[in-house]
Amino acid sequence: MDNFTFFSPTKFVFGKETEKEAGNLVKEFGGSRVLIHYGGGSAVRSGLIDRVKYSLDRSGIFHIELGGVKPNPRSGLVYEGIRLCRENDIDFILAVGGGSAIDSSKAIAAGALYDGDFWDFYSGKPITRALSVGTVLTIAAAGSEGSGDSVITKEEGMYKRGTGSEALRPKFSILNPELTTTLPAFQTACGITDIMAHLYERYLTNTRDVEVTDRLIEALLITMKNEGPKVIKDPSDYQARANIMWAGTMAHTNSCGVGRSQDWNSHNIEHELSALYDCAHGAGLAVTMPAVFKYELHHDKERFEQVARRVWGVDSAEEGIEAFRSFLISIGMPSNLEELGGSVEDIPELVKNLCYGDGRTGTITGFVTLDEEDCKRIYQMMV
Ligand code: NZQ
Ligand code: ZN
Repeated sequence: MDNFTFFSPTKFVFGKETEKEAGNLVKEFGGSRVLIHYGGGSAVRSGLIDRVKYSLDRSGIFHIELGGVKPNPRSGLVYEGIRLCRENDIDFILAVGGGSAIDSSKAIAAGALYDGDFWDFYSGKPITRALSVGTVLTIAAAGSEGSGDSVITKEEGMYKRGTGSEALRPKFSILNPELTTTLPAFQTACGITDIMAHLYERYLTNTRDVEVTDRLIEALLITMKNEGPKVIKDPSDYQARANIMWAGTMAHTNSCGVGRSQDWNSHNIEHELSALYDCAHGAGLAVTMPAVFKYELHHDKERFEQVARRVWGVDSAEEGIEAFRSFLISIGMPSNLEELGGSVEDIPELVKNLCYGDGRTGTITGFVTLDEEDCKRIYQMMV
């Protein structure tokens, strides 16, 4: 196991009606002037935004709001949010929604305290300070409620890039599984896929003797395998929703990824798909992962055999990948580029953006280092 420092200061408040605590929690973490940031309207329609505002009012906290975050959040709204924060002396951003609203909030939080262009942070500049962020989560998926990461798409060039910093870890996250019962089945399935992807990305490691984190990841993968189909069948199954929500957070706080190298090739390859086709991140991953895993198989077959045996109950690495692929299809995920709205003709552009876009120099490095030719072959395997 490698040396590591693990710092995960987020206060998680989990369970029914916990959004009522929003005002108290903002106050506890020193916020007095809040920007509520949310998506395309689901949180307004469900009455959640009104409940959150009521909670802030009861705690005497000033608030303004900025809705309209799109899935695969864009740079344009981040600039707007930074401007609003400065004009209104905002000291706390409350994200209400999924990974997109949370990531956009984190970008605003970092940008509001920076004189330059916030995009610098998504092109490699380290983030050392940011406004405080809290979250009210409405979809179990990205894990942004417990991570220091944020992924934004720059509208100029449509580059989808991520950044990470301890300064971006939310101060608190409110996790009420009831809020996820209004999700369309497709979005629920995209979330399940993304959570499993976060686990696989950590499982595919070149570090030896990491039994404790291997076993944690396996436990979470088995939980997702068992609980996922339950919520697809019955969206109101609170206990299954609850198990999935906490698994989603655990998958991405990095508690099960410490002390080991990680992969993230599937995520990098997928981000070009959601940048070009504006598809859901989870749907893109469902198409990407089987192809990447088959391509990376030769690198360390034993890794894939271990997860095949311990999670999927089959003997060979190939059968394990196939079992995962079938599982994803069974919950309603796409299995090829065409189903995402893409085609074979797009591959040169996908490869160019992936390997050379926004300052990259030709390779991506994870479990295996992939060059232009490797990436081209992987995209071809998705057709
Ligand atoms: O915008 P609204 O109207 O809220 O609708 C959203 C959106 O259409 C809807 N939705 C969310 N909660 C709902 C709901 N609909 C009904 N009822 C509810 N309770 O679901 C759709 C997807 O929402 P989004 O926030 O985009 O989903 P997700 O959490 O999957 O976030 C995806 C983004 O996170 C990034 C992805 O790349 C993508 O941009 N990621 C962020 C990470 C991080 N910060 O650590 C890690 C991930 O790997 C990922 O890359
Ligand atoms: Zn993801």
